[in-house]
Amino acid sequence: MFEINGHTKQLAIIGDPVEHSFSPQMHNYISKRLGNNYVYTALEVKPENLGDAVRGIRALGIAGVNVTAPHKFAVMQYLDEIDGRAMQYGSVNTVVNRNGRLTGYNTDADGFYQSLLWEGITVRDQDILIVGAGGATQPVLVLFALEGAKSITVLNRTRANAQRLAEYTEKTVGYYVETEKKLPRYDVIINTTSVGMWPDTAGCPLDDFSFVDSNTAAADMIYNPAETVFLRRARERGAKTVNGLGMLIFQGIIAYELFTDTKLPADMYREIAKEVFGK
Ligand code: ATR
Repeated sequence: MFEINGHTKQLAIIGDPVEHSFSPQMHNYISKRLGNNYVYTALEVKPENLGDAVRGIRALGIAGVNVTAPHKFAVMQYLDEIDGRAMQYGSVNTVVNRNGRLTGYNTDADGFYQSLLWEGITVRDQDILIVGAGGATQPVLVLFALEGAKSITVLNRTRANAQRLAEYTEKTVGYYVETEKKLPRYDVIINTTSVGMWPDTAGCPLDDFSFVDSNTAAADMIYNPAETVFLRRARERGAKTVNGLGMLIFQGIIAYELFTDTKLPADMYREIAKEVFGK
């Protein structure tokens, strides 16, 4: 058990809004559990104050921050260095302060991928269908392209947004992304929209589940409710399902490892799921 004292290093999440974030609980749990003298808080930063806030990280010697909506793209311009993958993703959710030099990383897509791997779901040589083309989608598209997906299709209410992401992926990593459903079945289907999230839990971003079968895996980035209508309908067709809690936990674990330049124990995922989220 640590106590906050003069040696305590500071971490935080910055965003707007930010008060509903689970990151403080997760990071403080890990610090307490490992006896690391860090404290992690949530700081609301309005878009017009983002530049000042980032300069404040240096001025105050804050050890690192996570960055959430709406700042994941805008924050990049204020950093000294951006990790190669984060640059390809076009998004930063983690900033590490090393002696006043700020480096941006992205742990969202890698956290999501880790959560799939944890459930035995792979990407290489798989036909993947992604629903949604918002801020969360682009890093995942780039990662799946780099991980050797056989095909990636993005369906979105506003097709132009899917096409914009397809163009981005082609330009950034030379991978062709489809924006129309053409295959009779998919190996992995993923919801990256907010449709079905609490409190509007009746929503589903997809009408047709005919291309889902018992060899399909369905993942949702939403973790509340634990089973969205999207996951339920996929499960009813025999698919294996995984919700967004794993992504939330793994992106935090990877960020913590970057903040502290340490490797967390392998069982930390299970422990956080149980002790922080009661799962
Ligand atoms: P962001 O993730 O960039 O903050 P968002 O508003 O949360 O954006 O939307 C993320 C995704 O959810 C988008 O693909 C959005 O579709 P549009 O590009 O057409 O806006 C999708 N989305 C949000 N509400 C939706 C709804 N009611 N039905 C279908 N898709 C929806």
